[in-house]
Amino acid sequence: MSIAAGAAVGPPPGMAVRLSSNESPFGPSPLAVEAATAALTDAHRYPDDASAELRAAVAVDEGVTPAEVAVGTGSAALLMDLIPERCAGDGSAEVLAFARSFVVYRLAARNARADYVEVATGGPATGTAPGYQRDVEALLAAVTPRTRVVAIDNPANPTAAHVDGAALEHLARELPGHVTLLIDEAYHHFADGQQGYARVRDLALDHEDVVVLTTFSKAYALAGLRVGALLGPPALVAATDGRRPRFNLAAAAQAAALASLGDRAHLDATIRGTIEGRRRLSQGLHELGVPHSAGLGNFVTVELGRHAGPVVEAFAARGIGVRPLTPYGLEEQVRITVGTPTEVDAVLTAAPEALTATS
Ligand SMILES: Cc1ncc(COP(=O)(O)O)c(C=O)c1O
Repeated sequence: MSIAAGAAVGPPPGMAVRLSSNESPFGPSPLAVEAATAALTDAHRYPDDASAELRAAVAVDEGVTPAEVAVGTGSAALLMDLIPERCAGDGSAEVLAFARSFVVYRLAARNARADYVEVATGGPATGTAPGYQRDVEALLAAVTPRTRVVAIDNPANPTAAHVDGAALEHLARELPGHVTLLIDEAYHHFADGQQGYARVRDLALDHEDVVVLTTFSKAYALAGLRVGALLGPPALVAATDGRRPRFNLAAAAQAAALASLGDRAHLDATIRGTIEGRRRLSQGLHELGVPHSAGLGNFVTVELGRHAGPVVEAFAARGIGVRPLTPYGLEEQVRITVGTPTEVDAVLTAAPEALTATS
């Protein structure tokens, strides 16, 4: 299966416990559901093409101006416009990323007809040590005059690694001016304040051209409505926004995202529940002696030491969908999203048998 097809597939049908797509198990804010439902009454009208109210609210939330914000149908769609925009008119452009980064960087580079260059990371988790550690020096060493974008998912999916604030500051300082530094903060809510992690907004990055991606798909639990945001220099934001299809963001999606920003209590409960579930899942795996990377996202990446196929099937036979990572070249790993407390219990109950399944 190609990486394009394989990494974007949904969960196998019929799973009672769906832990294969890094979705929030806690659901969206009730205020978001109410706002989206109300918006349906006007479904015969086109949405606001500029998403002006949402962009203004994101700008306030992020401490920037609306001119520094674009929104799109998920951060994936924004990447598909941003990377071709940055590589436009350059037949030899390169996009640089750590190996096994979020698959959409590769897809967007392909759409830009740019070369996608991967930088090796550390190896898998062993014992109690997490895997796939990232070294920004290796990234800097791979920059060439052709590099247009350095893309970093931070925290990373599916490896669960992260680059800490000090390393990001160093990277930004050393990165040549012709390179856009793209930091994808899809999972930041589950990482803030832990293990040296810092958002770009809380760092003093000494680089002109820094772009941040955020999404409403994870902590805000709106994956099905497709809303993401891009923050960056106004000229690049405007050029990227100019590439999107008109009226792309449905009115219900705009309304739900806007309402979500106003429900801090629901967001906080989701963050607390996710971090606690990640801790329990990781603890349970430790007790079983299973190496894994718990990282700072809403998932855990598990080392199996054997091909993942039978393990995925064994979980599926127990009604639990987990994600094989074959499209990333990780044949012996699965990614398990943090579920509700009951879902975490279900995984840990199934784990002793499922994780050792061989056929
Ligand atoms: C690193 C990363 N970025 C972004 C996204 C979110 O994409 P979208 O906003 O298109 O749902 C994901 C979702 O899996 C992700 O893992």
